[in-house]
Amino acid sequence: MADVETTRGPSGADNGAAWDRLADAYQRWVGWPEDVLTWGIRCPPEEDLHLVTDVADGARTLVLGCGAGEDLVALARLGAGPLTGIDPSQRQLAHAGRRCDAAGLDVTLVASGAEDLDAVADASQDLVVSVQALDYVRDLDRCLAEVHRVLVPGGVVALSVLHPADLATSGDPPHGWHRSYFTEELAWAWDGLVDEDVALTSWFRSPSTWFTACTRAGLVVERLLEPRPVDDERWIERGWLDATGYAKADLVPSTILVRARRP
Ligand SMILES: C[S@@+](CC[C@H](N)C(=O)[O-])C[C@H]1O[C@@H](n2cnc3c(N)ncnc32)[C@H](O)[C@@H]1O
Repeated sequence: MADVETTRGPSGADNGAAWDRLADAYQRWVGWPEDVLTWGIRCPPEEDLHLVTDVADGARTLVLGCGAGEDLVALARLGAGPLTGIDPSQRQLAHAGRRCDAAGLDVTLVASGAEDLDAVADASQDLVVSVQALDYVRDLDRCLAEVHRVLVPGGVVALSVLHPADLATSGDPPHGWHRSYFTEELAWAWDGLVDEDVALTSWFRSPSTWFTACTRAGLVVERLLEPRPVDDERWIERGWLDATGYAKADLVPSTILVRARRP
């Protein structure tokens, strides 16, 4: 079994507890691909984006919000390692431990929010990756300062988050604005996955906010993407999207990708 150490960041405590309640059902009914590194729903594949492929091989890699370990397994397939995964949800980490064991991977798993990387030494990582998790971080400046601290000079951080334009527009055609694009903090509930609604808080930040925050943390942004969607029916088959949601992704950007480097 992989190691699990415990520290919890401030926003990690709340959203981590919520993810503890969601984790088993999320694994059973939704889940995330592990065969290839998958940055977002209908997002172009890593083999087209090349967000980390040039730096992954042999890279000491930290995954923030590693969830149930799918991204750790996918990064190992790109040659990344040693691998460390951080997530505030113990239940998600239990799934990650099982998944990584089954894949024959020796990973270190740490229970913590991405704002608090105390368990990771200064300048110890070549690569930091986060897939669809940093929306749950309240204090982004603190998180990015920690990312800067743990990266070696020249190290790369690559991340994906949901696009606020998707969250601010209606799920129903014609997908008009129903909330200000500039509303970052959103309290919401995941309904229909477990018996009761599960309350979460997210911070949906614009591409310019990501650029500014990375720059403020001393990271040099190398790529900032809002990709056009690719056709991939698996998102309907796996239950992530219905036909309307699939069509909406042709109109409204759903993923932001950032790659930045510690100089
Ligand atoms: C959508 S999952 C992302 C994992 C995987 N890529 C996936 O899509 O299944 C979101 C993850 O973020 C984690 N999370 C919640 N709050 C967090 C925080 N403050 N810092 C890091 N991760 C957090 C959750 O526990 C959950 O495992």
